[in-house]
Amino acid sequence: MKNPEPVKGFSKLNKESKINWLIENYFEDPESALNTLKSYWHDDQKLQKMHDEFIENSITNYYLPYGIAPNFLVNDKMYCLPMAIEESSVVAAMAKAANFWVERGGFRSRVISTKKIGHVHFVWRGNNIQELSAFFDNLKPKLITGTDGITENMRRRGGGILDIELIDRCDLEPNYYQIKGTFETCDSMGANFINTVLEEWAKILQQEAMTDGALHDREIDVIMCILSNYTPECIVRSEVSCPVESLTPKNEMDPEEFAMKFMRAVHCAEIEPYRAVTHNKGIMNGVDSLVIATGNDFRAIEACAHAYAAREGKYRSLTHVNVSDGIFRFWIEIPLALGTVGGITKLHPMVKFSHELLGNPNATELMQVIASAGLAQNFSALRSLTTTGIQKGHMKMHLLNVLNQLGATDKEKASLVRHFTDKVPSHQNIVDAFCDMRGITRADLERASS
Ligand code: MEV
Repeated sequence: MKNPEPVKGFSKLNKESKINWLIENYFEDPESALNTLKSYWHDDQKLQKMHDEFIENSITNYYLPYGIAPNFLVNDKMYCLPMAIEESSVVAAMAKAANFWVERGGFRSRVISTKKIGHVHFVWRGNNIQELSAFFDNLKPKLITGTDGITENMRRRGGGILDIELIDRCDLEPNYYQIKGTFETCDSMGANFINTVLEEWAKILQQEAMTDGALHDREIDVIMCILSNYTPECIVRSEVSCPVESLTPKNEMDPEEFAMKFMRAVHCAEIEPYRAVTHNKGIMNGVDSLVIATGNDFRAIEACAHAYAAREGKYRSLTHVNVSDGIFRFWIEIPLALGTVGGITKLHPMVKFSHELLGNPNATELMQVIASAGLAQNFSALRSLTTTGIQKGHMKMHLLNVLNQLGATDKEKASLVRHFTDKVPSHQNIVDAFCDMRGITRADLERASS
């Protein structure tokens, strides 16, 4: 890699100049780099322009596979799930779990609460907290009326400000206080709405501090205004259940033994953080792929899910299992702050497609579907882990990636997929089978690819 000088005013350059600068400074073969970028441009100029306008310095598009998992029954409604994900086995695992549970009543899901939180973080240098409390009591109605214009639309939709509290965080840091807002943002994720309200609150706070007889403006410093992506009160619970005896098809593993192994596996993730992280990562395979396909913010969802998993001071499983009176119950409780309006939901054609595929759900329905998808994914992972092992299914799906890396033709791929129908493929034995098929040695292959 070359080591270019810092570039000034880059964002002001047009797309072509940005690309020229980039490929000249970072690539050995600028023509090939340019061709790669261009091969991902959309033919439809209008569509390409829209993508370019989503972010700054856009130079091309980045594709993820978009798969679907049919037969996904949630609250008696049959969904076909849209999933944007690169990991080979995730869609197959989702489809398997869907087919398994559709014959056992499907997923039952309910939203427990939908509150979102935001804070004005500030420093107050006074020392009589009663003074600040009295000031806040006076301030509170002004925070509501002062943001009437901003909240009007949301109130009309049934949402808005639910509560405003003064929070004393001097236990964490001297002079640290917050104005904590609790909001209902209906079908929007609410980040823009909440942040706009909070920034207005900060202005009102400072103005009132200036004119208030008891406080002085110099005593209050606003640090920042921002929603919290930790939403432990925006929670959904999904569950599957069935009699233990119908847990495994006839002639497979004994259902009671399966239930026992499955319970142990979940228990490992409830007590052991090393296992819990991988367990929850598998859940997020299902959650994120739908969150991305529906145009939601997977970083926010991820950050929140993991903070919630650690809410008791130890990182634990987001799913739980119980067997009693011969009934197997498996459930998830997860915070999901999702939107079905706003953001890119009405802009990105594939996001619109996903929403239509799901029947244009509102935010609470989407929470129910996505939580169920997380549970389904975890069920499939644990079923494989406690029976066949994970590599069988995983490598089967990964087989095509390895064959593509080796440059196999369609005919060769079909033949090797057939070859591995009754064998567990590993990277090593895929390469061996490929070499055998071509009648070459490993050394020949390495020579050809260097
Ligand atoms: C792989 O992406 C996900 C799993 O590791 C999840 C798990 O271990 O539960 C299979």
